[in-house]
Amino acid sequence: MGGTPGEDLAGKQVILGVTGGIAAYKAPLVVRGLKSLGIDVRVVMTDASRYFVTPTTLQTLSGRPVHTELFPETPPGAFEVEHIALADRADLLLIAPATADFIAKMAHGIADDLLSCIALATKAPVLVCPSMNVNMYLHPATRENLDILQKRGVFILEPASGELACGWEGAGRLPEPERIVAESKKILYQKDLAGISLLVTCGPTCEDIDPVRFITNRSTGKMGAALVEAAGLRGARVKVISGPVNREYAPWADVIMVRSAGQMLDAVRDNLSGADVLVMAAAVADYVPETYRGAKIKKGDKLTSLGLKSSPDILSTIRPFKDDKFFVGFAAETDNLSDSARKKLMNKGLDMIVANRVGESGTGFGSDTNSGLILSEAGVLDHFEQVEKEVLAHRILDFIRERL
Ligand SMILES: Cc1cc2nc3c(=O)[nH]c(=O)nc-3n(C[C@H](O)[C@H](O)[C@H](O)COP(=O)(O)O)c2cc1C
Repeated sequence: MGGTPGEDLAGKQVILGVTGGIAAYKAPLVVRGLKSLGIDVRVVMTDASRYFVTPTTLQTLSGRPVHTELFPETPPGAFEVEHIALADRADLLLIAPATADFIAKMAHGIADDLLSCIALATKAPVLVCPSMNVNMYLHPATRENLDILQKRGVFILEPASGELACGWEGAGRLPEPERIVAESKKILYQKDLAGISLLVTCGPTCEDIDPVRFITNRSTGKMGAALVEAAGLRGARVKVISGPVNREYAPWADVIMVRSAGQMLDAVRDNLSGADVLVMAAAVADYVPETYRGAKIKKGDKLTSLGLKSSPDILSTIRPFKDDKFFVGFAAETDNLSDSARKKLMNKGLDMIVANRVGESGTGFGSDTNSGLILSEAGVLDHFEQVEKEVLAHRILDFIRERL
């Protein structure tokens, strides 16, 4: 069984190279984010970076001595060659922020300080997060240097655009620490789903009654978002079809926003052919208004009932196009969980179904945890009781991977 995100990354070693850009003030938050995943962070600073953030801060947060010197007066334990030892032990070399100067050094193999020696010596994947004034970033020298690195297989996290510390507007801002941690996590994860394409539906649907009112349900998209994140971390290509939700999906997912069950059906039909796995985690409306009224229903209209009709059944409609795709359904039930899920599995021709209890605390809509069971034609694969949705997402993916 694949592990939780914490289990997978605990003990991994990341060298965080901090160079002399103004955004070095964000490096302590990157250290904290990586440490919260159980990662062992070794900070290496260039001379210039010490004008922007202190080694003491980074040392305290990483819980490790900070490395700054290529020729330290007291060599670290057992007289090992420090830059080679650090380079060899790393699972990832992360340079955040990366100055124009350091990017140029990396591109041309210059090794005149501890961090540039490590960059040249390591066999670990490298993630570079450029951050600088927009003109420095757009300068042909920097563009060419980044191209060289990219061609060599270095991962580049493009800077964000906006107001820069130097007063200019444009590209060059270091992405937020959470984004840098997410990209690092993605590189560190085992890619057991590489080459697999997942299509995931998430969230509720909204069925409009008039321009003011609509029918919806309590789904928040949390379970689907956890699946999207976990699948991307494990190397899958992920496309999301989401109803209206108040959340962002993992930055690497391709997201299509829809509103109604009808729109969700169209989007699933249009995108199914490229997918190996379809996960229907959305809570699609079962009933929709018979008619949409283009003008607001007024209070004085004395409306006493609302005509409803069944919504389009997405799974039944796309079933003829299933071929050898793996279909996973979700069921949310207040009672008879197992029987209802088994029926849905059979009736809809699913390969697997995740049934979760709703209507009590600690499970279902909006909750951080879920309780229920996972079923296939062979029977119950798993019972889960108040399991974190992030952990459950990995479990579901483990079962899918075993069956592909
Ligand atoms: C106040 C100040 C802010 C700077 N900010 C940046 C920056 O954000 N990005 C950058 O590439 N260079 C920046 N520089 C220039 C670098 O500090 C300079 O190129 C230095 O040599 C980089 O050294 P390093 O790459 O070894 O860390 C800044 C310089 C100063 C004085």
